[in-house]
Amino acid sequence: MKILVIGSGGREHALAWRLARAQKVSCVYVAPGNGGTDQEDGVINLPLGNVDEWLAFAEKESIALTVVGPEAPLAAGVVDAFRARGLAIFGPTQAAAQLEVSKDFAKRFMVRHSIPTAAYATFEDAHLARIHLGTVGAPIVVKADGLAAGKGVVVAETLEEARSAVDQWLQKPGDRVVIEECLTGEEVSFIVMVDGQHVLPLATSQDHKRLLDGDAGPNTGGMGAYSPAPLVTPDLHGRIMREVILPTVRGMQQEGTPYTGFLYAGLMIGEDHSIRTLEFNCRMGDPETQPILMRLKSDLVGLLEQALAGTLDQTEAEWDWRPALGVVLAAEGYPDSPRTGDIISELGQNTPDCHVFHAGTRRNGDRLVTSGGRVLCVTALGSNLKSARQTVYERVKSIQIQGCHFRSDIGWRALKT
Ligand code: AMP
Ligand code: GLY
Repeated sequence: MKILVIGSGGREHALAWRLARAQKVSCVYVAPGNGGTDQEDGVINLPLGNVDEWLAFAEKESIALTVVGPEAPLAAGVVDAFRARGLAIFGPTQAAAQLEVSKDFAKRFMVRHSIPTAAYATFEDAHLARIHLGTVGAPIVVKADGLAAGKGVVVAETLEEARSAVDQWLQKPGDRVVIEECLTGEEVSFIVMVDGQHVLPLATSQDHKRLLDGDAGPNTGGMGAYSPAPLVTPDLHGRIMREVILPTVRGMQQEGTPYTGFLYAGLMIGEDHSIRTLEFNCRMGDPETQPILMRLKSDLVGLLEQALAGTLDQTEAEWDWRPALGVVLAAEGYPDSPRTGDIISELGQNTPDCHVFHAGTRRNGDRLVTSGGRVLCVTALGSNLKSARQTVYERVKSIQIQGCHFRSDIGWRALKT
């Protein structure tokens, strides 16, 4: 069978790599892919960039299954368009993707279904928003409503910062911001597969959103991740399913927009073990996908087929007991203005336990060059997290990219004890 993966990041590289290893898969196409995807056996990049092009290709090539990596095509309705033509695709419909697309939609949904989240208020008027900020004080979190590629959240330590976010995001009619209580605790990424009704949880993971060591600096798309997250004990896992995931899936079903696809709940676990939902994403996380899929032992195609058949309740995913950890190598200037075109060399050889997933890379003749902010995610399995981390950083040391930077403390929370 032939599979189409939509997207070009590290998450899509990991998906394509994993799918291409399934026995019944003859070819995985990635649209548009990156400089690493088409180096994998059985993977071909396609220079296609919109719904019409993907649809035409899927019909012409009899693609058996399409998997969507990023949120933008989901928000644009790629799942609706494929389904209307009778093509199998895994992801949420445009209506269900609102859980990620609109922070306001997600907050109202959570309140309707008693899903724990931070207290909030939504504003369209900058003056009223500023008055509210004055009342609640700092620290406070301001979120732009709408997709913002990871740049739509400010965790403001001061009212000044919060006000400037409000002014930046409330400029024209229809703009909205969500202002919410600033939570403390430890974040985990809880990603599941949903078939409309049933849920199959994937392995837990933890991301590192901040740019710099010690979780300092601005938020990014994610600088590294590991799986599993030891914070999520079996007891907490059960509570997350009961308090967050199952009410979300049931709520979407009740509201006539059943959720299908990967669902990612970003959670804040308080010191008192309280669970608060920070956000929903309607896709897998990047870079969480890389360590998660490195640990997946089950056949991913089989899981996707069960999801499309609505029988996720009849399956379980099998995981490598070993933890995996991934470190992102970012281009000079990331996240504000990443430089592109730098030459990448000395990537080394992938092994079953250590794989370099590409993101912002492309081929320029016989050279590999940077083409985006997050360039690579070096990911390894280890007999424990420390040894996974050691393998990763040894590989990272040998890779040459001018101006590249990375965090040197990925996994620190899990290793601190
Ligand atoms: P989001 O896109 O909503 O996940 O926000 C991006 C990041 O901002 C999260 O991963 C958190 O680190 C932080 N964040 C979001 N909401 C809150 C909150 N209510 N309190 C503290 N930090 C938050
Ligand atoms: N790593 C965070 C995200 O994918 O949203």
